[in-house]
Amino acid sequence: MSKVKAVGFYEHLPIKNTHSFEDVMTEVKSPEEHDLLVKVDGISVNPVDTFVRRGGRHNKLVHPKVIGWDAVGTVTQVGSSVSLFKVGDRVWYAGDFTRQGSDAQEQLVDERIVGYAPTSLKDRDAAGIPLVGLTAYESLFEKLHINEKDVGKSILIINGSGGVGLIAIQLAKLAGLRVIATASRPESIKWVEKLGADFVVNHHANLVKQVRKVGFKYVDYILNLSNLDAHWNEISELIKPDGCVAASTENRRLIDLQKLTKKRVTFSWEWMYSKSYYQLEDMISQHHILNRLSNLFDEGKLVPITTKSYTPIDASNMQKAHSDVESGKMIGKVILTGWE
Ligand SMILES: NC(=O)c1ccc[n+]([C@@H]2O[C@H](COP(=O)([O-])OP(=O)(O)OC[C@H]3O[C@@H](n4cnc5c(N)ncnc54)[C@H](OP(=O)(O)O)[C@@H]3O)[C@@H](O)[C@H]2O)c1
Repeated sequence: MSKVKAVGFYEHLPIKNTHSFEDVMTEVKSPEEHDLLVKVDGISVNPVDTFVRRGGRHNKLVHPKVIGWDAVGTVTQVGSSVSLFKVGDRVWYAGDFTRQGSDAQEQLVDERIVGYAPTSLKDRDAAGIPLVGLTAYESLFEKLHINEKDVGKSILIINGSGGVGLIAIQLAKLAGLRVIATASRPESIKWVEKLGADFVVNHHANLVKQVRKVGFKYVDYILNLSNLDAHWNEISELIKPDGCVAASTENRRLIDLQKLTKKRVTFSWEWMYSKSYYQLEDMISQHHILNRLSNLFDEGKLVPITTKSYTPIDASNMQKAHSDVESGKMIGKVILTGWE
């Protein structure tokens, strides 16, 4: 057991509160079985971090809560059953929802959900990829089941300019799809176009009219990455009969699945933590996906999506990064690197 620097919180507070994050020390155990001990060099903030930070209702915690679900770092120790990595390997991962997060100088993580970090990306560009990369990849290829027979088919990606969307656009283009992505501001439209979307439509206006206007009566696939309640009717109308819809954002109201009945549409949820949360047999697939993404970056087939970064990793910069994500206007990823 060792004590390391971390950024954490004792209370679930609004981000403007000066105690919403504090610089703390946290205990990290020695790795056992499949665990790697990783020295964390860079992390990113995702919407889930802000939900968990704001979300709890209990009183002040005795020990600080350390969250964070994205990291790039170096393996410093390995557990007795580790076979995929060795000390010194540079790795990246999104981690596990049930364990201490990556906002700490050191973290334990199961090797089966870790990949080799791309050699061509610096920490600033690598740290934000694992969570959104796994989400985009699993959504497209495990939930929508897109495969080599789908070249030329169409996909609508609702929220093209967030982290998941910017990776999903690139992966969908690599799979040969025609991509319609949504964005509403000049700067987000620019990113979505730069990463390969064939058409851009505005998610704050009628999607059905706009998608029809660019030439699609229906689309084969829809990936929803924002506000499922608001977009459900549009999704039901635009999806092709026998098409597939996947969503990574939960509905707040009941959604009417009957709207998909006559079209025989498949609807799937994506939660990139399912595999580690339920210790699914195919948990090691996240190791393979992260390695696949790593190779795609090293081959220049995927481009990085970091648009903001802060150094060092401390409470003050964590507050800035959470504010960025909570603004709802984040394009791509916000990263924190290095410790002081
Ligand atoms: N289930 C999972 O495993 C999983 C994993 C990762 C993320 N998620 C969820 O997926 C969502 C996307 O996360 P993210 O990190 O990629 O991006 P994000 O930070 O949530 O996305 C920010 C972007 O959302 C766009 N946006 C705002 N209102 C919208 C609307 N009504 N419809 C469509 N887009 C809208 C904005 O684009 P403009 O500025 O152009 O308006 C903004 O640039 C979040 O809800 C997150 O919690 C789930």
